[in-house]
Amino acid sequence: MHFFLDTANLTEIEDALAWGVLSGITTNPTLVSREEGAFEPLVQKICSFMQGNPVSVEVLATTVEGMIDEALRLSALAPNIVVKIPMGVEGLKVVSKLSRGEKKVPCNVTLVFSVNQALLAVRAGASYISPFIGRLDDIGWDGAALVEEMAAVFRCQKIATPIIAASIRHPQHVQRVAAAGAHIATVPYAVLKQLADHPLTNLGMERFLADWSRSRGKTSL
Ligand code: E4P
Repeated sequence: MHFFLDTANLTEIEDALAWGVLSGITTNPTLVSREEGAFEPLVQKICSFMQGNPVSVEVLATTVEGMIDEALRLSALAPNIVVKIPMGVEGLKVVSKLSRGEKKVPCNVTLVFSVNQALLAVRAGASYISPFIGRLDDIGWDGAALVEEMAAVFRCQKIATPIIAASIRHPQHVQRVAAAGAHIATVPYAVLKQLADHPLTNLGMERFLADWSRSRGKTSL
């Protein structure tokens, strides 16, 4: 499973890139609204940091024509832009048009909350499907179970469209969607850091260093 970072923050992206684990970025209007400065230069900077890896940026328009217009403008910003299109009848029309057009624009269908929505998005021509698992948990459902079901249906239908498990809130989500067969998990920076940590790793290191300095008196080789 690949890791994307769910952020529009350049400091977070720069740091996570140095870990060597990042394969892409997803943003959304909420994440972009937290950042300073003009929108397009920010998107271009994120795209250049990611050096060809996919960067999902969402349209704001709600009409088919408006979404197509925005999608074309966004995709002209950098070669690694993936346009995020919200699920729905209008969204499906947009994805169908963009994925079959002369200049094919890769689309990430976002705000997906059911297997049926995912199946439609695939047929419309989506390049990625983003089920939102934390938001399902928020209303008392089991969000990770949706990814389990979706991945199983994709396997039996021989659908290769990558599933991006989104709206991830904690490490347990990551482990469950990986076990389910999600191709990608897009995680907030705080969760990415949690993934790298374990209290026994920290304790183990403290003990090694304490034992070494007791017998050797210094903490470097
Ligand atoms: C994914 O593409 C979305 O940007 C994101 O995961 C939404 O997460 P949230 O439900 O925490 O806002």
